[in-house]
Amino acid sequence: MAVTVFHMNDDTLKTRHIPVLFDEIIEGLNLAPGKIVVDGTLGGGGHAIGIARKVGKTGLVIGIDRDSAALDRVDKRIEELDEPVNIKTYFANYCDFDAALERAGVDRVDGFLLDLGLSSDQLADRSRGFSFDSDGELDLRFDTTEGTPAYQLLNRWREDKIADIIYKYGEDKLSRRIARAIVERRTCEPIRYARELADICRRCDPTPPWSKKRIDPATRTFQALRIAVNDELGSLETFLTKFMKSLNVGGRVAIISFHSLEDRIVKNAFRAADDLKIITKKPIVATDEEVERNPRSRSAKLRIAEKVR
Ligand SMILES: C[S@@+](CC[C@H](N)C(=O)[O-])C[C@H]1O[C@@H](n2cnc3c(N)ncnc32)[C@H](O)[C@@H]1O
Repeated sequence: MAVTVFHMNDDTLKTRHIPVLFDEIIEGLNLAPGKIVVDGTLGGGGHAIGIARKVGKTGLVIGIDRDSAALDRVDKRIEELDEPVNIKTYFANYCDFDAALERAGVDRVDGFLLDLGLSSDQLADRSRGFSFDSDGELDLRFDTTEGTPAYQLLNRWREDKIADIIYKYGEDKLSRRIARAIVERRTCEPIRYARELADICRRCDPTPPWSKKRIDPATRTFQALRIAVNDELGSLETFLTKFMKSLNVGGRVAIISFHSLEDRIVKNAFRAADDLKIITKKPIVATDEEVERNPRSRSAKLRIAEKVR
């Protein structure tokens, strides 16, 4: 089996990710010196470092990510900080956070943070296929050590399965047309690169380029495939069935989602848990000023709940 090794240089070790709803997370988690918090989606480490500064030397942040490149970046960033922070990093799926707790020698924690989806660093890494204009293979996995790259699945799945995924996870009305075009294209030549799929999606969209519709026609298909390839909803559902037993009374869980299906799963799980008090009756969203500064925050929804008994 051919293995591609990507060497990270100083530039790729710097994060470009701007954390969304940063102040709202720091305030919403009710942090204090000595608290222990799990950041299940470490990404560029922005939230984790902010939390670590609040919990201080006597506290701890257990940082988890499924992407080893993200962990390398955060480890380097922590090393370079002027003031040391107490963050332990683990390569894992956040739904397996209990294994990380065990390795850290921790039984229960005072907070959980999930900031779901993709980071700007992953988008910027053209070899991963997250960005539609890249010449990289259409991989779309957060953890490249397990699962199957998206292009292999696209060349294998039945047309109706592709259409259902694009419709369900991408909420794209053009799902059937795009699935048909994918199947037509792969009968001539298998799809391999991100740019090829983006071109197929764009050719399926009748909206003229001068229309007010601002998002790229490939956006929803890429999002849908990424969610399917990484089983993103499955991880979230598993996490929501188990985090309560590791959360201290008075501890909080904060989840930022970027997709209506994820937000609904979080809302329903919080409502169904007898021992949780919902802190955010309506999800917190970014201010106009934050959206201006960081367009990624536009679709972010933050829900927070507290364990009361
Ligand atoms: C939006 S970024 C988080 C950004 C971070 N809060 C910050 O301040 O820089 C999401 C990160 O979560 C990771 N991720 C997504 N699903 C995951 C999962 N199931 N388990 C662990 N990490 C996951 C991604 O690899 C990505 O690095």
